[in-house]
Formats: sequence, structure tokens, C-alpha cells
Amino acid sequence: MAPDRELTIRRATRDDLDLVAALYEQLVQDQVARGWTGRPTPADESRSYIAGRLQRADVHYLIASEAGLPVGFVEAALLLHRQPWPLRLLHRLLPPAKPQAALGYIHNIYVRDDGRRTGVGSSLLTAAISALKTQGIRRLRAHVIAGNEASFALFAKAGLLPTQTAVEGEV
Ligand SMILES: CC(C)(COP(=O)(O)OP(=O)(O)OC[C@H]1O[C@@H](n2cnc3c(N)ncnc32)[C@H](O)[C@@H]1OP(=O)(O)O)[C@@H](O)C(=O)NCCC(=O)NCCS
Repeated sequence: MAPDRELTIRRATRDDLDLVAALYEQLVQDQVARGWTGRPTPADESRSYIAGRLQRADVHYLIASEAGLPVGFVEAALLLHRQPWPLRLLHRLLPPAKPQAALGYIHNIYVRDDGRRTGVGSSLLTAAISALKTQGIRRLRAHVIAGNEASFALFAKAGLLPTQTAVEGEV
């Protein structure tokens, strides 16, 4: 990578809310264009969702920048839903060193159009895996829209292969 494209990855803080919210909106638009059938959250709701997530110790929001300019982000967290809710609440405040459900989840990963195919996505994913490993994960999961070859390639490179396929259509 050329020196002027030096990549840095850092943990987002509450001060990054505008930045993360803007990247998140770009990701939503990208996924809608790919045929995502979920209901896009209104921008102000996304913003308050992200604001809450940025304050949680068990959620990893990492921002990638090149030459000081943000180029992408990843949102990763432990999957704790198999635990009883009092434990889940506790773990939001105090992430377990060795969680029982040692499963991590990539909620979102996004690289701006002009920064793709230069290794930024892989670097973000590697950094997210490292962060989750400090919490004891041994497995990682993500959901990918059918036809999103870039995303399948990114995850396959990290050893994540398709396991289930949803079917959906107008009836
Ligand atoms: C998926 C995404 C994050 C990948 O980011 P990226 O920075 O381009 O990824 P990388 O450059 O690190 O590439 C990782 C691997 O995937 C491959 N790859 C990337 N884009 C690809 C494409 N369009 N088609 C086929 N392979 C592709 C790369 O060649 C690389 O493998 P290699 O190292 O063996 O060559 C990016 O395309 C993106 O933001 N897409 C839109 C948002 C999205 O779909 N997010 C995922 C939701 S699950």
C-alpha cells in the first residue's frame, strides 16, 4: 500500500456518532440497492441506535481511515441472546472474559466505494476478530445477502463459509 494511503483502524467513541451514522446510512443504501428486503430504519432512529451501541463496552465499532479520511467501519459484538436477560444486562456493562456462548457476530461491515478492493475490509474484519477474541469467541457469524460476492469473498478469506440459505419471494 502506498504511504499516502496508510490505513489506520481505531475504536469509535461517542464523539464519532456523526461519522458512524453517515457511514451506516451509506451501508443501508448499499444494502437496499442489493435487494435487502428489511425495513430501513429512519435516519434519526439509526442515530439513536448507534449512540446507544457506541456506549456499550461489549460492542466494537471500529473505524478505518486512509490519509486521515474515514473509509469504512465494522460493528461487531458477542451474541449473548442464549443467556438469561439479567446476565445479558450485566454483560452489557461488564463484558465476560470467557463468555459461555463464545459466538461473535458481525452486525455491519462497510467500505466506501472508492476504498474497496485494497484490503480495507479484510483489515477491519481482522481487527474485529481480534477484539472479539479478547472476549473469548471461538466462532464468528454474519449474514450476507445472496449475490453479494464481495462480502462472501471477504468472509471466506477469514474462514467463514455459507451455512444456511433463506428463501423469499412475492406470493
Ligand atoms: C464487502 C466489503 C466490506 C469488502 O470490502 P473491501 O475493502 O473491498 O474488501 P478487501 O479489499 O479486503 O477484499 C477481501 C477479499 O474479497 C475479495 N473481493 C472484494 N470485493 C470483491 C468482489 N466485488 N468480487 C469478488 N471478490 C471480491 C478481494 O479480492 C479479497 O480477496 P483476496 O485478498 O484473496 O484478493 C465491501 O465490498 C463493501 O463495503 N460492500 C458494501 C457493504 C456490504 O455489502 N457489506 C457486507 C454486509 S454483510
